[in-house]
Amino acid sequence: MPIDGSTKLVGVFGWPIAHTASPAMHNAAFGALRMNWAYLAFPVDPKNLGPALAGARDLGLVGVNLTVPHKILALEFVNEVDPHARKLGAVNTVCIENGILRGYNTDGYGFARAIKEEFNLSLKGKRVLVLGAGGAGRAIAIQCAVDGAARVFVANRTLSKIEPIAREFASAKTAFKALPLDSGELGRVIDDVDLLVNATSVGLAEGDSLGLEASLFSPKLFVYDIVYRPAETALLKIASENGAKVANGLGMLLHQGVKSFELWTKRKAPVAVMRRALSAAIYGESK
Ligand code: ATR
Repeated sequence: MPIDGSTKLVGVFGWPIAHTASPAMHNAAFGALRMNWAYLAFPVDPKNLGPALAGARDLGLVGVNLTVPHKILALEFVNEVDPHARKLGAVNTVCIENGILRGYNTDGYGFARAIKEEFNLSLKGKRVLVLGAGGAGRAIAIQCAVDGAARVFVANRTLSKIEPIAREFASAKTAFKALPLDSGELGRVIDDVDLLVNATSVGLAEGDSLGLEASLFSPKLFVYDIVYRPAETALLKIASENGAKVANGLGMLLHQGVKSFELWTKRKAPVAVMRRALSAAIYGESK
């Protein structure tokens, strides 16, 4: 659709943002449904997040996605926080209606949906080991509790950063354990794990590796890496070489976007169109 005087605008704030594939995914969806909407990427320095969100409201945007480093910071700049986003401790989607900014989190949903799709696995009753205790690790660990996981381990390089996540489990039915991020420590619990998730940023750069030992991986283990570029991270390579079932983060990226699309437009998202657009934008081909 050509952009005209009544085009509705949504977008993503990040810093940096040039690498984002979200515009390709959402604009393909708008095109497929012949909607007069557009999705743009905005480089927003974290020190300007408050004014940028107020600006989005004043310019009549319908909503925005927030990516690194804005997801936690955004909690203080929106007028209302959806209870699930509050629990996960991060906002990745803002809806703007009647001048009110309301923050949501669709990352947890995207993760659970991707696990179901890739592995036909429900989190209920599962034992999950999450590597990483940043925004992504926290959202994934807490989503596991919300969906009834039996046990969640969180391993992080900096142990003290696990404390705020542990506090969220104090009243949950899901058992919780914090661990240092090293092969020896992980080896002691790996027999009690069904699903291992990398939620650290390690793997994003070519040759980047957590250096986990091959002996941790076996055919009974599912391994999910939230990194999607490169398509096969060092973690996924060593895991699949040792028989584990593996998937990268494309599905999580897709399904968080699907949910954001539906929150803004109140229409059902064209998932297949969005998946193709995302894959083409990231890997340069349609998968
Ligand atoms: P996000 O919002 O994407 O989760 P983040 O909050 O910056 O980003 O968190 C990054 C995560 O990757 C953290 O768990 C971080 O570990 P620390 O808490 O110890 O910093 C982890 N991480 C980043 N680089 C790492 C590395 N080289 N080795 C191990 N963990 C790393």
